[in-house]
Parts: sequence; C-alpha cells; structure tokens
Amino acid sequence: MATDEITQKVSDRYARAASTGEQMCCPTNYDMASLQSFIPDEVLKISYGCGTPAGLKTVSPGETVLDIGSGGGIDCFEASRLVGPAGHVIGIDMTDTMLDIARKNAPIVAANLGYTSSNVEFRKGMADAIPVNDGTVDLIISNCVINLAPDKRKVFREMFRVAKVGGRFTISDIVADQPVPQYLVHDADKWGDCLSGALTLSDYIAGMAGAGFLGIHLIKFSPWQVIDSIYFFSVTLTGYKLPASSYQSDIRYATLRGPFSRVVDELGTTHLRGIPQPITPDAVCLLSQAPLASHFVLSSDPLWLDRADDRWTAVYPVDAPCAWQGHFAMLAGPFAEAADDDHHVYRRGEPVEICSKTLTVLETDGYAPHFAIINRAGQNVSGGAVTCAPNGACC
Ligand SMILES: C[S@@+](CC[C@H](N)C(=O)[O-])C[C@H]1O[C@@H](n2cnc3c(N)ncnc32)[C@H](O)[C@@H]1O
Repeated sequence: MATDEITQKVSDRYARAASTGEQMCCPTNYDMASLQSFIPDEVLKISYGCGTPAGLKTVSPGETVLDIGSGGGIDCFEASRLVGPAGHVIGIDMTDTMLDIARKNAPIVAANLGYTSSNVEFRKGMADAIPVNDGTVDLIISNCVINLAPDKRKVFREMFRVAKVGGRFTISDIVADQPVPQYLVHDADKWGDCLSGALTLSDYIAGMAGAGFLGIHLIKFSPWQVIDSIYFFSVTLTGYKLPASSYQSDIRYATLRGPFSRVVDELGTTHLRGIPQPITPDAVCLLSQAPLASHFVLSSDPLWLDRADDRWTAVYPVDAPCAWQGHFAMLAGPFAEAADDDHHVYRRGEPVEICSKTLTVLETDGYAPHFAIINRAGQNVSGGAVTCAPNGACC
C-alpha cells in the first residue's frame, strides 16, 4: 500500500473523529478533574492518546516542548501549564480539523492559566518532516502517533535532529509483541485504529537507538488488546540526546550494583555485578542518567562490591517448584541485554517465556520498572508445578 494512501486514510479518519467527537483508541491515565479546570471540553473529548506523556511531570518550567501529532492539543495544553509562561510549546499535526480546534482553544487555555498570551503554537506538518529548526527542543512528546506514520525511522531521525543536545523524549505509543502480519499492514482501515502500523517493542526501541538516542527506558506499560493472537500494548518510553564526549570528569570505572547479574549497556560494554569496568567519557555520561545511575557505582579508581556491601542488590530465585502460566517478559531498556540470577537472558524488546518464580522475581522493585510482562496463555493452562533443580533453578 502506498504511503500517501496510508497518510490520507489516517488523516481522514482523525478529521472525521475531530468533527464528530467520537471515542477512539486506548488506555490513558489523565487526571481529568485537573485538566477540566483549564482545558475546554471540546479538546478533552477528542483526546485519542494512549498515555500521558506531558502529564507524567517530565516537563520543567521554561522548557521548549514539541508534541508530534498534537491532535486537539490536550498534551500541548498540559505542557503549557507545566513549562509556565516563560516556556514554549509547539504542536504539529497533519490534519486541518485537529489544528483548527487546537488553535481556537489556545487563547482560551492561556486565559484560564492567567497568561497574558498563549505559549503554545500549532503548526501544520508531518512527523517525518517536522517543521522545527535543528537542536531547538528540550523535550519531545507524542501520544499515540508514531504508529500511524508509515516511515518511522524517518520520524525517529527527525526527532533526533530537532532535539537539543541534552534534550530528551517521552513518547507514548502502541507496540506489539510480534511483527504485525502483512494482512493487517495492508489493511488501510486498521492503520487509523493504531494496529496496522504498530512496531514490535524491539523494533521501536531499535529505531530510536538507530537515530542516536541513548538511555532509552520504560516509564509505563499498559496492556491494550489482543487481535489474532497479537498482543498490542501501550508503552511510554524516555530517552536522551546526550552530549558528545567532551564530558569532563575524573570517573573512570563503573561497577554494576544489580539486581541484574550482568548487563550489556547501549554502548556495547558488558558489566558483571560487583566487578569494576573501565568506561569511556561517553559511558560516564550515559551511566549518569536516570535510571541507569541507580544501577551503578561510578568511581575514579576500581571499586569491587560483594554481597556484604549495602550497594550490592540481588533477587535470588527461591528454592521451590515453579509453574508455567503463560507469562512472557520483555526487557524495555535501559540496557541492550541483561541477565538475572537464574540464568535468564533478556534482550531488549524480545519476549522471554518465564515461570511463576521468575515472574515473582521480575515483579520486585529493582526489576519491575524495566519489564513489560504479558500473558499469552488462553483459558486452558494447568499451571502444574514443575520441580526445580536443587539450586532452585528450573527454567
Ligand atoms: C491518535 S491521534 C492522537 C492525538 C493526540 N496526540 C492525543 O493524544 O489526543 C493521532 C494524531 O496524529 C496525527 N497524525 C497521524 N499521523 C501523522 C503524521 N504522520 N504526521 C503528523 N501528524 C500525524 C493525526 O492527524 C491525529 O491528530
């Protein structure tokens, strides 16, 4: 199917939705009472996102925020409140009906916030040709849009181009646990439903990484729907455009604290828990970012950790039978690869079948923020206990 046809169908679909106010799409978690206090209903009722990228408090006063596929403007207006009158928000969208509603409501929102003039502007434009200058944006947000764009790699490259050095993105979007088959990809009507264009989590993160972003990690995961045994879910991801390696620091080593027993960082360096690893200035910069910083001790001299050290963290599997209940875990950053203490290796975005014991491990505080976990089982799972090896390992 031609990309122009996809784009036209998607735009028509959202133009129709904007004029009728029909309900569409996915799980969000807005504080509606708070938004209703300053955003008109006309905007709120055409909120078609699948997360809350601006509402997640990643936005700081004075920042420049870009919203890709801003629709009726809900996230732009939330960002407008969070950046304050000294900040600036740019919403871009390809659909005139959406832009008309957003532009009409911008002065109303500004007045409700007590601003002398609106700090939000809406520009007509495409996600893969963003009408914004290079290196000018602190924070890029987008809510359920990139799945609708036929050439996602181009979108990711555009995001990297417009981000400031030191800037970041927080994006909510729909992804799938496996490649969407061709019969859905070529179903023009399902593009607008956020199905046909969904990437796998693995390809989504790889696309961001390929554009140059680093420190890509999960903020939120919400299951959405299962169609033809394909699990579609919403993720909110953050990542950084880091400075080049002029970074001045006396840090030379990183020691992994855990709970992972081994990780491969996004620069390709393997870290074993407790063992100091020499690192480059680029790695110092990367490993200093949240949430990576909490997994490492950075030092100027080699520093070993052992189990007795308070900084060592681990979650060991219990010595008990396990049950296979249909769970699959997907590592969603901030590492390219990671291993737990039961020999499971998780590669970013790739589903790994896990037993009940491993599920318990991955639900603990140190692991849980980094995994999207789905259950692919149908109704008939016996879930019978499987005896484990004497060391507690079973799967
Ligand atoms: C699912 S709606 C989400 C709107 C808004 N982000 C929200 O949360 O309500 C998708 C929006 O993205 C716009 N859009 C879709 N694909 C686009 C593209 N390739 N370039 C620019 N805008 C696009 C549509 O016009 C529509 O307004």
